[in-house]
Amino acid sequence: MKKISPSLLAADFANIEREVKKVAEAGADFLHLDIMDGHFVPNLTFGPPIVAAIKKVSTIPLDVHLMIEKPEKYVDEFIAAGSDYLTIHVESTEQTAELLKHIRAKGVKSGLTLRPRTPIESIKEFLPLCDLVLVMTVEPGFGGQSFMMDQLSKIDWLKSHRQQADLNYLIEVDGGVSNKTRPYLDNADVLVAGTYVFKNDYTLAIQSLR
Ligand code: DX5
Ligand code: ZN
Repeated sequence: MKKISPSLLAADFANIEREVKKVAEAGADFLHLDIMDGHFVPNLTFGPPIVAAIKKVSTIPLDVHLMIEKPEKYVDEFIAAGSDYLTIHVESTEQTAELLKHIRAKGVKSGLTLRPRTPIESIKEFLPLCDLVLVMTVEPGFGGQSFMMDQLSKIDWLKSHRQQADLNYLIEVDGGVSNKTRPYLDNADVLVAGTYVFKNDYTLAIQSLR
């Protein structure tokens, strides 16, 4: 059964505690937190103090997606804030392998992701260091965009490579996930959904994605 990781980006930010509890009660497995710095992506969200505040009220693991330049400057703060999964973009740093190892050494699950235009082969060498690989099916930066069908081949590639290379990362998909796009996602393990969960009945939306 798939794990569902609702993206808080689409929640009511004036009521974060209530939203976190409500979506966990609705059956969410993880809580996806989108961290944007206004440089790596043209949008801003929030940083470690808000992650730490969410950690205090969350009963489910935090799945933190860093869309920031030079994540090496901030990973320790996001680890201290209580990230359970911490995902970095391969385009955002020169230190991908070092960072993935560092995250694991701190007892946190390591995640790696890539922009839609980045070829999947560019992350191949790092996959033995990953607990999770995130396939972006929209351009990172904003919720509510349309799902990019041309990214589906990355999911299939990751699944067959995982078997061939005897690896065990989770395959996660983020961007435009809904009941309409769910039929294409059988090969994924974790589905991120922002708009679809938070703009519908949370329980029904989560159930429809499993
Ligand atoms: C986009 C973010 C996504 C976003 C998904 O940069 O990484 O997590 O919140 O939103 P929806 O599900 O609305 O496409
Ligand atoms: Zn995300």
